[in-house]
Amino acid sequence: MGKDTLTVTDNRTGKSYEIPISYGTYPTYGAAIKAADLKQIKVSDDDFGLMSYDPSFGNTASCRSTITHIDGERGILRYRGYPIEQLAEQSTYLETGYLILHGELPTRSQLDAWMWEITHHTMIHESIKKFLDGFHYDAHPMGMLIGTVGALSTFYPEAKDIHDPAVRRKQVIRLMAKMPTLAAFAYRHSRGLPYAYPDNDLSYTGNLLNMLFKTTELKYAPNPVLERALDVLFILHADHEQNCSTNAMRGIGSSHADPYSALAGAAAALYGPLHGGANEQVLRMLNEIGSKDRVPAYIERVKKGEVLLMGFGHRVYKNYDPRAQIIKQVADEVFEVTGVNPLLEIALELERIALQDDYFVSRRLYPNVDFYSGIIYQAMGFPVEMFPVLFAIPRTSGWLAQWEEMLEDKEQRISRPRQVYAGPDRRDYVPMAAREAGKAA
Ligand code: CMC
Repeated sequence: MGKDTLTVTDNRTGKSYEIPISYGTYPTYGAAIKAADLKQIKVSDDDFGLMSYDPSFGNTASCRSTITHIDGERGILRYRGYPIEQLAEQSTYLETGYLILHGELPTRSQLDAWMWEITHHTMIHESIKKFLDGFHYDAHPMGMLIGTVGALSTFYPEAKDIHDPAVRRKQVIRLMAKMPTLAAFAYRHSRGLPYAYPDNDLSYTGNLLNMLFKTTELKYAPNPVLERALDVLFILHADHEQNCSTNAMRGIGSSHADPYSALAGAAAALYGPLHGGANEQVLRMLNEIGSKDRVPAYIERVKKGEVLLMGFGHRVYKNYDPRAQIIKQVADEVFEVTGVNPLLEIALELERIALQDDYFVSRRLYPNVDFYSGIIYQAMGFPVEMFPVLFAIPRTSGWLAQWEEMLEDKEQRISRPRQVYAGPDRRDYVPMAAREAGKAA
């Protein structure tokens, strides 16, 4: 291999520039030039210099990160180097969350301490119930979650001290612990059910099921297969490098806002139907299609550009999303307990036809994590509005790890993109009377 530089010739001036290329762990894990190095390319001294234009960050690295590695061509996902398949099979969500946040798998005593701390911070201030009571009976639980998690910042004013690692750690524990409680309370409000308090004897997902579904029994006993299935789904959703909501978390956090405010913004980004709201839209789409024989007609509508095939396509994966592969296995285990969701037949037919149709093949569109997760959640008894909430709870570990990494990174400053201005040139203010006269003329 030659030199690790890029030589660029500006044909406007005939000048050449040599720009260094830097790499990730290996050159194949990401090679980049610094956009700031383009600034030296000018046509005159008063020229601002060349920028890179990249709407929607299609090919821009915004940070160096050690948390998650995705190889979209080969369908690879790893947290801190560990393949997602191994974590889904052998780890738990809380252990994976520890790994994502700390960089290494915990020892037994570290894991016990971590689980103990999270288990003992699940309660929320009673006043939060009063905000929840103010929401309409049909308020979307994701809207309630975004509002209440943002409101937590007012309960913990010390959280503003984002440069103190001990203070940060306290908020990490609180957010990991309280997100399930906020989510469950939002759900109970929308059902008109009394709030069910956390049960410290249960696992992270067992307790979530308890807070969601407990009725008159003195002690809720989660079904172990469903509890484990939810835990695996949480592992799969824990982080996904620089996606839309993580970019929002880092962007808001870069102004040194407290983590509750930043996380409310990240959750708001997740809520959109192109991101974490897609699982909800998949279910609505499957219901709209209604039966297997109507799948080809729906595919035709997608190809005409009338609708999107929700749960398909990804900015990074140009191959089968590895999370979707694992979810299909989890689905089999869940359906043994709950019975098969009749929508599965429609989903399988959509996938079968799409994977051999040139529209999808040529654009490299494959099922993503959201395609099958909703079918499982529905079989487990969750209403569709809860699906994005079930994405936000585990993504909390990823958001917080990315936020801390950003704060510790000396290269990061307030997030502030540039633009290429394409509006009107300088012009003089026109008084109202002259504007009216101009119109009449
Ligand atoms: N159905 C039909 N056509 C699609 C789809 C789809 N789901 N996704 C992409 N395309 C087409 C798109 O129209 C474009 O075609 P053309 O080149 O003719 O204009 C081409 O494929 C490339 O798509 P793109 O919009 O440039 O891709 P993107 O990287 O900007 O968008 C995406 C990625 C995930 C937003 C998009 O694939 C999409 O809208 N998918 C449906 C929503 C969805 O399932 N989102 C969940 C993403 S995974 C979990 C998460 O991160 O939250």
